[in-house]
Amino acid sequence: MRVTMIGAGYVGLVSGACFADFGHTVTCVDKAPEKIEKLKNGIMPIYEPGLDDLVKENVDAGRLFFTTEAKDAVANSDVVFIAVGTPSRRGDGHADLSYVYAAAEEIADLMSGYTIVVTKSTVPVGTGDEVEAIIRKRRPDADFTVVSNPEFLREGAAIGDFKRPDRVVVGTDEERARAKMRELYRPLFLNETPILFTGRRTSELIKYAANAFLAMKITFINEVADLCERVGADVQEVARGIGLDNRIGRKFLNAGPGYGGSCFPKDTLALVRTAQEYKAPVRLIETTVEINDARKRAMASKIIAAMGGSVAGKAIAILGVTFKPETDDMRDAPSLDIIPALQAAGAQVRVFDPEGMEEAKHLLPGVEFREGAYQCVAGADAVVIITEWDEFRALDLARVKAAVKTPTLIDLRNIYTPAEVKAHGFTYVSIGRP
Ligand code: NAD
Ligand code: UGA
Repeated sequence: MRVTMIGAGYVGLVSGACFADFGHTVTCVDKAPEKIEKLKNGIMPIYEPGLDDLVKENVDAGRLFFTTEAKDAVANSDVVFIAVGTPSRRGDGHADLSYVYAAAEEIADLMSGYTIVVTKSTVPVGTGDEVEAIIRKRRPDADFTVVSNPEFLREGAAIGDFKRPDRVVVGTDEERARAKMRELYRPLFLNETPILFTGRRTSELIKYAANAFLAMKITFINEVADLCERVGADVQEVARGIGLDNRIGRKFLNAGPGYGGSCFPKDTLALVRTAQEYKAPVRLIETTVEINDARKRAMASKIIAAMGGSVAGKAIAILGVTFKPETDDMRDAPSLDIIPALQAAGAQVRVFDPEGMEEAKHLLPGVEFREGAYQCVAGADAVVIITEWDEFRALDLARVKAAVKTPTLIDLRNIYTPAEVKAHGFTYVSIGRP
């Protein structure tokens, strides 16, 4: 099949490369010329493990193309995906759909023959109806179907998630569109991946409900962690103890500094706004948003308390600033709340992150960026782990101890065991553990 992906970001580029790997002919269109230029030269505009090889293989095989010009690609495609951003709208937290609607207008003007227009972007209930109306208005005679096909991949594990998903959700009532979508995802059918065909609005809501549930699960364990600290219990044992119950499940029960990223924060907020608009408020999610926002800020106070109540003039080494490991994405990362609060309290902050520093430099003024974990901790009054990159899991603690000024380790991801760190002479503070 011939496929066009409008938007070559984290989702569009990964999905496009994976569809090409399924054997389809895919053109990724992005209006950012620097992204397309890089891709044409074999340089990835984002850090995502395995993506460079996957892109290269499919480009070499003549199945994957990049362009800033949607015209030929859309006109020749059976399926056109919209994979553009849907950030929070400034002021009210609703999803900003301007990029989606602009893409819909563009597609309307360019498509020819029966075309399936698929929203892969995360969009509020009813957006598919609006996309259909936009296209219908510009092209009253066009033959097309608008389908919802939300994406559930995680950054850092995106290729595996796309190729081996727990499920694929396809929202459309039209049988001919369902048949085409089945063909598109054929390799997954053969793998017996559950493919859920449903209505378009239901599909749109499934995506938000999934993200909101996961955000709530994380927030739940974070609150339990706070309680553990008060009562002398261990949140990791509690997580294991409840997670072994299949009805609860073990995943997404790692307590930490609060969820961040390009999706949970904006999607929980957008769901809250949609629900309020329809007068069916989702109060659990409203509370989740509030708790998570407060938690990110509270992490700075936790660090300050661990350093004796004042950080004025002190040097703090931060290991990891991206919202999670294995990505360079800094969107809504907890570090963006924690570090400015520490600076406001008078601390001098230095940072090392394996992939996120390029992006972080634009977002964290006044921070000193250092090349390497050991360089970062040298002379520090405290070391704080914000993101659990693998290379921070196996630090040579004796070497860290020798390099720092004061041996205080604040581990916001619980990647060390208290006994191990204390044996090296550190004061150790983690999340939800005695
Ligand atoms: P992104 O910002 O990385 O990429 C969006 C891209 O679209 C940008 O490169 C932008 O230049 C391009 N673009 C915007 N309008 C365009 C147009 N008219 N024509 C061509 N290109 C255009 O965003 P993302 O992280 O890939 O997210 C995209 C959507 O997927 C969002 O709705 C997001 O919620 C959803 N989503 C993201 C993830 C994730 O892990 N990042 C996972 C699942 C779903
Ligand atoms: C998340 C979802 O997991 C994907 O299914 C979804 O497609 C995506 O959002 C999206 O809609 O964009 P992602 O944001 O890439 O994926 O990363 P996650 O692994 O979900 O982590 C999100 C945040 O939660 C991170 O800040 C992470 O550190 C935090 N987290 C996650 C925890 O604090 N504890 C956990 O147990 C799990």
